[in-house]
Amino acid sequence: MSFQNASRVHLFCLLGVTKLAGLCLSAVGREELPLFDCLGRRLGPRFLSRGGDDSMKLANELYKILDQVNSEELPVGLKVPGSFSEFLSDMKNNQYDAKTFAVRLKAMMEYMDREVKRSRLAEQLHKYFAATTIPKGMHCLSLRLTDEYSSNAQARKELPTPELLHLLSDNSYHHFVVASDNILAASVVVTSVVRSSLQPERVVFHVITDKKTYPSMHSWFALNPLSPAIIEVKGVHQFDWLTRDNVPVLEAFENHHGVGNHYHGNHIMGVNVGDSPIIFASKLQARSSKYISLLSHLRLYLPELFPNLNKVVFLDDDVVVQHDLSPLWEIDLLGKVNGAVETCRGEDTRVMAKHFRTYFNFSHPLIANELDPDECAWAYGMNVFDLNAWRKTSIRKTYHYWVKENFRSNLTLWKFGTLPPALIAFRNYVHPIDPSWHMLGLGYQESTDLERVRKAAVIHYNGQCKPWLEIGFKHVQPFWTKHVNYLNDFIRNCHILEPQWFPQN
Ligand SMILES: *[C@@H]1O[C@H](CO)[C@@H](O)[C@H](O)[C@H]1NC(C)=O
Ligand SMILES: *[C@@H]1O[C@H](CO)[C@@H](O)[C@H](O)[C@H]1NC(C)=O
Repeated sequence: MSFQNASRVHLFCLLGVTKLAGLCLSAVGREELPLFDCLGRRLGPRFLSRGGDDSMKLANELYKILDQVNSEELPVGLKVPGSFSEFLSDMKNNQYDAKTFAVRLKAMMEYMDREVKRSRLAEQLHKYFAATTIPKGMHCLSLRLTDEYSSNAQARKELPTPELLHLLSDNSYHHFVVASDNILAASVVVTSVVRSSLQPERVVFHVITDKKTYPSMHSWFALNPLSPAIIEVKGVHQFDWLTRDNVPVLEAFENHHGVGNHYHGNHIMGVNVGDSPIIFASKLQARSSKYISLLSHLRLYLPELFPNLNKVVFLDDDVVVQHDLSPLWEIDLLGKVNGAVETCRGEDTRVMAKHFRTYFNFSHPLIANELDPDECAWAYGMNVFDLNAWRKTSIRKTYHYWVKENFRSNLTLWKFGTLPPALIAFRNYVHPIDPSWHMLGLGYQESTDLERVRKAAVIHYNGQCKPWLEIGFKHVQPFWTKHVNYLNDFIRNCHILEPQWFPQN
């Protein structure tokens, strides 16, 4: 049978198949199906039942031929149409039989499949590097403030001044902790807390950073005080407790066979063009050095780092605080350790649909035997920690145990991040707090509800698209940038500019 015998039906079929091919092409970003298989699937009974008996027969025939062609290798040296229009004019100009039509269709779709994947990979890579590279202006800020530390006594002055030192361990104050190597981000967190506070004179902020960032971070807060709030800046090297012996996780990280390669070697090694964007991104993140930095694990040592404190609120450096947070100290945690917002239910069905199965590999027996896939997850970013209750538990030991197990299992228990081992370690020690305290997802989805953003006590730019990056979502950026003083000399001299936002319509 050839198409020439039934030109009306031929046209119907050709257009139909071509249309389906187009649908498949646009779906390829979402579906993990090769284009030609997608076409085969879409050419199912529903499509075949349209158009009456004649076309039914023809379509059936075509389906068989497509099926047959799909399992065959393409002829070597076949000239491949590079686009639909080329394909269509090719069809019009040559009176192909059904088999040739199918072969050429397959060739074109395979070609497009590769092109789409190639550009998808390029896009993911671009996004990854955009998300992990420090912007020039922020690098500049860090360098200039480091210079300032060595040249300007004002930048080196003690923080806080000696007569206020005793307040650092006074439990009648509200103690906040942020751990960051990003000066601008830390500055926004601290500034937004102080500005939103009804009693800023009761705020004590403990800013922790790494050894390398310490001089610049200290300069920043010494030169930009936020009195009456009290600010302390400390490098990890200045905590007596944080010696190597006390941080087995760090040791495990360093000693683990292959981790050097994973983290410091070729970041894109083992990343596959065929991976879905989500798997791709998580593989890159798992290899990113961010996840072996001590700063990202630091919150697990709060009871030891602040031996005299009873309760602290720990903030990630990608949040903005918009309400007075002092009521957090009034919440009765009912003996639990960690007051956190649960992430398994909520209006936003994408951001708030996280269960243990989201984070762990339940195909692994260690996980399947220990955890319940339906258990609700909770969020890092804004947590109230009762350090006294914490000191009575073995949370840290459990955490270390599981981080090590994940290494021993070649990182197959969970993909990335510091949250999964915490989800295990804090089991039975979490007290859910009202979701209005902490709104998540501003760094990974564009469709954030601005009305909810305005009302939330704390907004969290979790995800890759941080508000200080070019790839940050423009409409939620102003909630962050309004806490940056773009007139500051250091910021201006480093050409860090306020992003301009023009509404699109
Ligand atoms: C982890 O990987 C190493 C080397 O690739 C291999 O020898 C070892 O058996 C793996 N361990 C597990 C638990 O899969
Ligand atoms: C999940 O665990 C199974 C069993 O150990 C393993 O074969 C698989 O590769 C793991 N998956 C991932 C994504 O690591």
